[in-house]
Amino acid sequence: MKNLLFIGLGRMGSPIAGHLAANTDFAVSVYNRTPGKAEQWLKQYAGTAHSDSHRYDAIILCVGNDDDVRENLSLDGQFVPCLKQGGVVIDHTTTSAELAKAISAALAERGVAYLDAPVSGGEAGAVNGKLSCMVGGDKAAFEQSADIFKAYCHNIVYIGASGAGQISKMANQLCIAGVLAGLSEAICLIEKAGVDADKVYQAIKGGAAQSWQLDNRFQTMMAGEFDFGFAIEHMIKDLNYALAETRHQGWTPPVADKVLNDYRQLLADGQSGQDTSVLVEKYRQLI
Ligand SMILES: NC(=O)c1ccc[n+]([C@@H]2O[C@H](COP(=O)([O-])OP(=O)(O)OC[C@H]3O[C@@H](n4cnc5c(N)ncnc54)[C@H](OP(=O)(O)O)[C@@H]3O)[C@@H](O)[C@H]2O)c1
Repeated sequence: MKNLLFIGLGRMGSPIAGHLAANTDFAVSVYNRTPGKAEQWLKQYAGTAHSDSHRYDAIILCVGNDDDVRENLSLDGQFVPCLKQGGVVIDHTTTSAELAKAISAALAERGVAYLDAPVSGGEAGAVNGKLSCMVGGDKAAFEQSADIFKAYCHNIVYIGASGAGQISKMANQLCIAGVLAGLSEAICLIEKAGVDADKVYQAIKGGAAQSWQLDNRFQTMMAGEFDFGFAIEHMIKDLNYALAETRHQGWTPPVADKVLNDYRQLLADGQSGQDTSVLVEKYRQLI
């Protein structure tokens, strides 16, 4: 049986840790910065609270951003010293690729492997155990951790060296930004023309314009409903990381750059907590 520590019982982390606890191959300990969430989790699932005396085969975390990961994985902090020699850290936080490379190098000095393993699939994917996971880091550590990933992912792809998982997640977010921008423009065109939106959807959904966003968000965007999970604050963070990476490469992606500014303005306009499809409201200001 593997001893695991899960850090960060938020919207994504809580159900992911729950899938691990349901698997008899694992003994799961949990930690959450706000203790009440860990207490709640322990009432719902079989597990124990983290203690300094525990020794773990793996630490899995899903916190907010680069700073949060740094804070939780400091070499002399409360968690890393509890890892057994040859242990592995699996990080599901969406971060910069630079952070992934730096943490990987620091942990390697302690004989610990670090896998940057951001996920896609949202809260529903976490609850249903059907996340997609893109992984960078040591390949042997990835293979050694396959049983952990399989507890809550249906699509697990090893991409390459440290940081490659985060680069894949950036690609994922650039695709989403572009698709939502196009969909927002299409909706404004339809509204201004006054044609039947449902008929337009029926006509275009099976063709080259088909996308997950078209199928799942077209009708809700038309209806002005934006309460579907992934909040614009997260997307602003993710696009900031993606644009920092492209600037490092010497270029700026024009569509993502514009979408990022649109989200910043939506946030300033009071759209905090709304999901990413709220982008259409920015475009509606143009018509
Ligand atoms: N939500 C989604 O649909 C989605 C989809 C894909 C990827 N992601 C990524 O997954 C990560 C987590 O997202 P989420 O939606 O689960 O966020 P969330 O609900 O806000 O949860 C964040 C968790 O991280 C903990 N945390 C934050 N900063 C910390 C720190 N400095 N030290 C210790 N714990 C800290 C929080 O603890 P407290 O309870 O104390 O605040 C909370 O448990 C993010 O990187 C996000 O971009 C999210």
